[in-house]
Amino acid sequence: MRSVIDTLDLSVEEIDELIATALDMIQNPAAYEQACKGKKLATLFFEPSTRTRLSFEAAMYELGGHVLSMPDAASSSIAKGESVADTAKVISHLADIIVIRHPKEGAALVAARNASVPVINAGDGGHFHPTQTLADLLTIYQKKGGFRHLTVGLCGDLKYGRTVHSLISALSRYDDIHFVFIAPDELQLPDYAKRNISFSQTNALEEALPRLDILYMTRIQRERFQDKTQYERLKNSYILDADKMKLAKPDCIVMHPLPRVNEISVDVDRDPRACYFDQVYYGKYMRMALILKLLNGTTDGKAESPAQEATRACANPRCITTAEPGLPPLCKRGEDGKTRCLYCEAEVGG
Ligand code: CP
Repeated sequence: MRSVIDTLDLSVEEIDELIATALDMIQNPAAYEQACKGKKLATLFFEPSTRTRLSFEAAMYELGGHVLSMPDAASSSIAKGESVADTAKVISHLADIIVIRHPKEGAALVAARNASVPVINAGDGGHFHPTQTLADLLTIYQKKGGFRHLTVGLCGDLKYGRTVHSLISALSRYDDIHFVFIAPDELQLPDYAKRNISFSQTNALEEALPRLDILYMTRIQRERFQDKTQYERLKNSYILDADKMKLAKPDCIVMHPLPRVNEISVDVDRDPRACYFDQVYYGKYMRMALILKLLNGTTDGKAESPAQEATRACANPRCITTAEPGLPPLCKRGEDGKTRCLYCEAEVGG
């Protein structure tokens, strides 16, 4: 069964195809009004969301399909202790496709391994958020004309920023992409997200800004910090305002997955280089294209990564294996040669 848990589950050619379909949907919406007639999409959201859940639900309605919506954990049997694995098995009997967001890293993979219908990861903790990346890619395609020869600055919470992790893995497959990671030392990118990429790191937004073709701002995410004093210390690390935008190139675009708190001042919204509301617009069409592709039953996706039994349990407290009983401790060999937890990619040793 074809699922999308990581952006790398889609090939570059498939992303091109999704972009072409999304652009056709924008031009010819009537042609898709019945495309998913009689099909049901279940949105299982165990973490808050405005954009992603409503974007998926709007996407399914525009394709002529139906939506089964579970907007929070409290209204589901997860609150009674039901596992993600059992939830996925149950919903497979009720819906044709599942969209899941969960605070634990690897939860979407657990759902996919147990479902008998396609599963789309709508965000698993601080790990991945591939459909935000699809929204980001169509925005970049429209604003920059493609994905080559770009210097991309990513600013804010790069440690727990799932949108950043997915965007880096997607863009790393194109020619001449250089990343600039702008974050406090405590929130720099995890090692697993640095595979095969050209990058530099800095703490200073003002120093990086003049070099960038794209500035991707992110929120410092209070909900990811175990130490709330650390959050209080770091929360105002970066605030982009109209004055700082004077340092940016005339054609540098500013992106943000949203929601924002204060990291982009509202005076930037009037700047024509601000693209964060365009990302929401394009996101719905990319999700429509993805739903259609998965419901059309393509099974030609990337082969499932070979998993082996891990000799010890994953020690990442944010991993789904620490929350859900009965999950086998599995690992895989990362591209960096290290042995990593299959679910969350934390290093687990041999
Ligand atoms: N960008 C994004 O994931 O927004 P929501 O949390 O509102 O879904």
